[in-house]
Amino acid sequence: MTLLSKQGASIIATGSAVPELCINNHEISKVVETSDEWIVSRTGIKERRILNGINNSITDLATLAAIRALNKISMDPLEIDLIILATSSPNDLFGSASQIQANIGAYNAAAFDITAACSGFIVSLTTATQFIENGVYNNILVIGADALSKWTDWSDRSTCILFGDGAGAIILQSCLPDDKGILGFQLNTNGQKYNQLCLAYKDYYNTSNSLKITQGAFNKITMNGREVYKFAVSQVPESIEKCLYKLDIPIEEINWIILHQANKRILEAVANKLIINNNKFISNLDKYGNTSAASIPLVLDEAVGKQIIQRGQKIIISGFGAGLTWGTIAIQWKY
Ligand code: ACO
Repeated sequence: MTLLSKQGASIIATGSAVPELCINNHEISKVVETSDEWIVSRTGIKERRILNGINNSITDLATLAAIRALNKISMDPLEIDLIILATSSPNDLFGSASQIQANIGAYNAAAFDITAACSGFIVSLTTATQFIENGVYNNILVIGADALSKWTDWSDRSTCILFGDGAGAIILQSCLPDDKGILGFQLNTNGQKYNQLCLAYKDYYNTSNSLKITQGAFNKITMNGREVYKFAVSQVPESIEKCLYKLDIPIEEINWIILHQANKRILEAVANKLIINNNKFISNLDKYGNTSAASIPLVLDEAVGKQIIQRGQKIIISGFGAGLTWGTIAIQWKY
């Protein structure tokens, strides 16, 4: 059954921000046994940006990305109805979106976080689209921001080479249903494999007082790289095909594909499976590594800035990661 939407949703602006500190593969090879040659050939990553210094937080980066998106269209922050922050590394476990609301002065907006690791931006943009299509809100700020460097085990060479920090933002606006830019989506979860990629909670005994109750902390990131690789290569093409099938859009009509920036070999394998030319895949992972929820909006913002993405073109964005979660959104670019 197809439900008729009251409104359509379109992306009307993008913005992004990355930390200044850049760490290249050579520098990483000084702390774990690895090499630039190994990292580039296995992942395509050459360097990554790392959030460093006290009181320098992911919320600051997310705020900057949001302000840049707003400034591009000279939008008053008071026009924003909702802020959704996709992050798995918030400043505050109770949620960081409200800090962004205050930082940018979007005092009319409701704000909340969504946690879905590297699929966070896809899940958040899909959520935002529902609020607009139902006619509830007109302007929604969606931000993907992560600082996984804070949760990386810097003695584990199989993970510390992969991650970087960053933030990307988009503004989603209501439009006539026939004019919509968000064409459709496809979301998935396989919780049975959650332990293939975790940033897991752990209990410890607090012995500092007589109560001796257990309290919480978090482990560092653990990952079964081979399993995550196999999962991504098998599930992402299927998700893209399902999304396009529902919309009756042949894959040949897609101008650009932006995958979560995890690994160059995953991008190539997905291109092979879909029988699509590699040059339709836009990527910047050589410069930023895997920035988790930020990776797709970071690529989007760069590609729009360089005028690679043009008005009227059809784009697929597809995310995958911890959970395990994955999903796809089909977009027609409208500005
Ligand atoms: N430098 C040198 N050697 C290394 C390194 C390193 N940095 N890391 C691992 N190795 C070694 C291993 O120890 C192993 O050695 P052995 O054969 O003597 O045991 C060998 O290289 C091969 O290890 P693999 O794990 O099989 O290497 P692989 O080719 O699979 O590459 C990688 C590892 C890059 C992690 C890959 O599996 C991958 O990219 N997986 C997907 C990761 C991913 O997409 N994660 C998404 C996260 S998204 C989110 O939600 C946070």
